[in-house]
Amino acid sequence: MVAGGDPGVAGSATAQEHWSSRFAFVMAAVGSAVGLGNLWRFPAEAGQNGGGAFVIFYIACVALIGLPLLLSETLIGRHGKSSAVESVRVVARESGGSTAWSALAVVGAIASFLIVSFYSVIAGWVLYYIGVFAGDLFASIGSGNLTGGAFAGQSAEQVQGLMPALFDNNAVMLPLHALFMGLTIYVVARGVTGGIEKVAVYLMPAFFILFLGITVYGAFSGDFAEALAFMFAFDPARLLHGPVMLSALGQAFFSLSLGSAIMITYGAYADRGVNLAKTSGMIAACDTSVAIIAGLCIFPIVFAAGLAVDSGPTLMFQTLPASFQTMPAGSLIGLLFFVMVFFAALTSSVSLLDAPTNWIRYKFGWTRARTAVLVGGLAFVIGIFSALSFNVMGEWYPLDFIAMFREQNFFGVVDGFTGKIMLPLSGLLTAIFIGWVADRRLTDAENGISGGLHLFWRFLVAWLCPIALTVILILGIFPELIG
Ligand code: PFF
Repeated sequence: MVAGGDPGVAGSATAQEHWSSRFAFVMAAVGSAVGLGNLWRFPAEAGQNGGGAFVIFYIACVALIGLPLLLSETLIGRHGKSSAVESVRVVARESGGSTAWSALAVVGAIASFLIVSFYSVIAGWVLYYIGVFAGDLFASIGSGNLTGGAFAGQSAEQVQGLMPALFDNNAVMLPLHALFMGLTIYVVARGVTGGIEKVAVYLMPAFFILFLGITVYGAFSGDFAEALAFMFAFDPARLLHGPVMLSALGQAFFSLSLGSAIMITYGAYADRGVNLAKTSGMIAACDTSVAIIAGLCIFPIVFAAGLAVDSGPTLMFQTLPASFQTMPAGSLIGLLFFVMVFFAALTSSVSLLDAPTNWIRYKFGWTRARTAVLVGGLAFVIGIFSALSFNVMGEWYPLDFIAMFREQNFFGVVDGFTGKIMLPLSGLLTAIFIGWVADRRLTDAENGISGGLHLFWRFLVAWLCPIALTVILILGIFPELIG
């Protein structure tokens, strides 16, 4: 690709990179959005928040807040054509606004950095289950029991016990965290065309094939009717329930990779010809479908095993593996399931590391590879404390004196601080920046929509997003307000 007119001298440490095609951009952005947030967090949140009400509110959050912000972020990047922080500065400068608005991307890039530190720990658990199911598959091939359930001869308690055993075992958990972070660093270090889009264009189509295959399998062999009823049961009493709304919006942010400088960074690699409104719509639609279908993929299997769907974060790692015990070809499908989760997690962690890496390398003029190793290495070290929060540091509450972090260990604090404060704060600043500060001629020229739709987008960004995000921030910081 030609880097004509872009900042950075070709061949220098900070030469602006480009996606090699629109398909690569869409796959990388969808790859960023679709991750553990969809497969692990969404079903867990939906399960704990009563299914239907959460799902309906979630869809509303994506359409009215997530999508307009997604378009705002990609627009900033595509116009600025630099790191996220530098891109905001470009837009601010051209609009006659203060370059201090770049703080929105600084907050986002730091959030990404903190999130990837624990994201890699959780992805390490995924690697562990790939190993467990692969071992079980070999055993079942050896015993000629390929079509039966997984973990033949073991009790449900034994299988459920795999997760607490893993959590107690740093000798397994930490090397897997290192392995996953190492892979992420490797991909980011190889650059946009050589690394990031390569994994996206191969892994995302593979992900979709596995995902649809396993969902169809669950629909036929599991309890699909009960899952459907659970996911879409409409209970108006729960719909306007503060905590449910709060977690739905938080989940929408996490899942769409918003407020994390990622979509600004990825937008900057996009060519002028790409219609950002269409692309953003496609990203949001794919991400939301995957989240909902993930519920329809996991719940039928769990319901069929008669286990509880409201187990929260342990749903995917404890309840689901045990559920594969009663499913036909359980070890094979279980293995494919976790391989699929790994694909989704890697394309997301790559985006989480790329945003802060790109910021730092522009700031200091370092090479991409060097920056990725340094930033990823530091994230690995911080992630160790999150891993230890599942065992020896489980009852160490570093910010116990602050109400919102009461009885939260290190992992809980980083998760809560990024999800409840940093992402919504960055999103809020983005909405105000695009809605009120950025030059309208500039945003109008970039966004690819016109007429009534354009006015509606402006209304959402200038009014609804700031109001909703302010409420969310206040409620997130003062949880006692909603009891
Ligand atoms: N969107 C991805 C997921 O849902 O897993 C990864 C992610 C990106 C999470 C950015 C959080 C975030 F701020």
